[in-house]
Amino acid sequence: MRTPVVAGNWKMNTTLAEASALARAIAAGVSGVNGVTTIVCPPAVSLLPVSMALNESSVFIGAQDLSAHPRGAHTGELSADMLAGLCTYVIVGHSERRSMYGEDDATTAAKAGAALAAGLRPIVCVGESLGVRDSGEAESFVASQVKGSLAEMPDLSGVLIAYEPVWAIGTGRAASPEIAQEMASAIRNALASLYSSDTADAVPILYGGSVNVDNAASYAASPDVDGALVGGASLDGHAFSHIVEAFAASG
Ligand code: 13P
Repeated sequence: MRTPVVAGNWKMNTTLAEASALARAIAAGVSGVNGVTTIVCPPAVSLLPVSMALNESSVFIGAQDLSAHPRGAHTGELSADMLAGLCTYVIVGHSERRSMYGEDDATTAAKAGAALAAGLRPIVCVGESLGVRDSGEAESFVASQVKGSLAEMPDLSGVLIAYEPVWAIGTGRAASPEIAQEMASAIRNALASLYSSDTADAVPILYGGSVNVDNAASYAASPDVDGALVGGASLDGHAFSHIVEAFAASG
């Protein structure tokens, strides 16, 4: 039985003060909601104040990215060991990292490996563009991203996967629950053939892309969709808490 997971990716939003206030609003909104793992991923500079704001709460913290390198001359980067004291999860291979910062499956795999080695749980993002979907190749494209982004990682315990179709991110054009289910199932099949069906059954697979209060329950009802990675709607404490509740009710 996989526990539902709802993660908020705040992206490059919130000042220090706003991040603390949002974290407090979410902690209040989800207190008493059981049977779901709630994660917030603030900007790196807000990890510490957010962890203080969430001190008494069951909400977990994630980073939005990390360096694949352990230390040294990498100006502006943050290592897994630095983040390990501040959070539990870290997003890797987000489509914005892939499209704007030239990250590919190999980079994503290196980052996921660095995260695991430091005891962080990577949320590995995959998802096809509209062009790939229109060509009918979405399943094989995403299966290949999964393979490349895990790059023969010996053990997937601790790993989460987020299916985030590029065309659904920040567009208001969410994938239908049928597409989300179909793709989550295709990802699970890919994991079963790369690893084992036990491993495939254990890995949480989240859907991300224009998830909101109105559509959350339809994803929560999909058997292979174990949660959501939420962008825009995670910046509203009320909305995000309702999305968490929708998945808690499905668990
Ligand atoms: P939106 O929910 O704003 O579409 O963003 C999704 C996303 O990229 C989460 O990582």
